Amino acid sequence: MEAPLLEVQHLSVGIQRGRDCLFGVHDISFTIKPGEILGIVGESGCGKTLTALAIPGLLPGGVSISGGTVRFENRDLAGLKQRELCEIRGNRLSMIFQEPMTSLNPLIKIGRQIAEPLELHGYTDKARIRREVLDIMEQVGLPDPERLAGEYPHRLSGGMRQRVMIALAMICKPRLLIADEPATALDATIQAQILRLMQWFNRNRGTSILFISHDLTLVNRLCDRVLVMYAGKIVEEGPVRDIFRRPAHEYTKGLIGAIPSKDRKGRPLTNIPGKVPSIEDGAKLRGCPFAPRCSRAEERCTTSFPARTDLGGGRRVFCFPPAGEGGRENGTLREGHYAGT
Ligand SMILES: Nc1ncnc2c1ncn2[C@@H]1O[C@H](COP(=O)(O)OP(=O)(O)OP(=O)(O)O)[C@@H](O)[C@H]1O
Ligand code: SF4
Ligand SMILES: [Mg+2]
Repeated sequence: MEAPLLEVQHLSVGIQRGRDCLFGVHDISFTIKPGEILGIVGESGCGKTLTALAIPGLLPGGVSISGGTVRFENRDLAGLKQRELCEIRGNRLSMIFQEPMTSLNPLIKIGRQIAEPLELHGYTDKARIRREVLDIMEQVGLPDPERLAGEYPHRLSGGMRQRVMIALAMICKPRLLIADEPATALDATIQAQILRLMQWFNRNRGTSILFISHDLTLVNRLCDRVLVMYAGKIVEEGPVRDIFRRPAHEYTKGLIGAIPSKDRKGRPLTNIPGKVPSIEDGAKLRGCPFAPRCSRAEERCTTSFPARTDLGGGRRVFCFPPAGEGGRENGTLREGHYAGT
């Protein structure tokens, strides 16, 4: 089997609150294979961004990795010094975020900003840098690169700025792109273009992508596999098409039930009652964190966190099967014992 490009094991992210350390992310494990697009979905506050920031060592002050390992290209990133991490960031691994304006420097011309990662990672030949900048601008669909390279960011629309961010992220040909809600602030047409652009880099350069979104429809369109996160934990994982067709976790069922779409015409739109617990409230819950919102919650759900169940075909779920349904076959549970919808 091909070695993973990224292997996250038992990762926890701690947030300092006075004397206490609360978990924003708790004991999550996952891998990304070379050339794979992995999605992370979940409502606001589930720990998606903390996961994205923990991988390249970009957590803000007062927030830190409190357990686990992050192996990228066979090196443990959590054990590296800042200088070593800087050599990897923007080079082997890069990131784009939701709001491109806050990531771009308003006082520096676009061409110079796109060139920065190359200069930072040792390129000195001015003519070569210029050629690479114009090439990548063309690849991300920025019109008239020669002219645009001399403009300042405020002259561009939101969609164009996000293309500049993608150019900046991709110029050093990273093997992994971490994209945290890269299309959320954009309208549907531009959103689709940004997704197509990421798909182009994936198919033509083999770039692996960690795509974070609260929008399952976008994840379904772009990703091979998906992790569903709730209250800092992974609650379900698997190939995106299978999870869409037959979600196993009650939370995933709720998220899918809330998607308005043509094929769901006539079916009622279900909204998940309640909201994601704050990290303080989450710390008080002993069992499944979704129990206060789950219509199928039983006594055991409030006292112990369900162990991981393998459903086969790369699918895993952290949910108790319905009462009275053992359903075990050779140590795994059949999907049908969960699906029930
Ligand atoms: N810098 C911080 N200091 C303190 N708490 C934080 C910090 N960043 C995140 N948190 C808390 O950690 C939890 C997870 O936050 P995170 O930003 O990872 O969520 P998210 O899934 O990305 O949400 P969204 O969809 O809104 O972006 C939340 O409860 C949040 O309030
Ligand atoms: S473990 Fe229990 S509370 Fe949690 S999602 Fe499954 S049935 Fe609901
Ligand atoms: Mg976020």
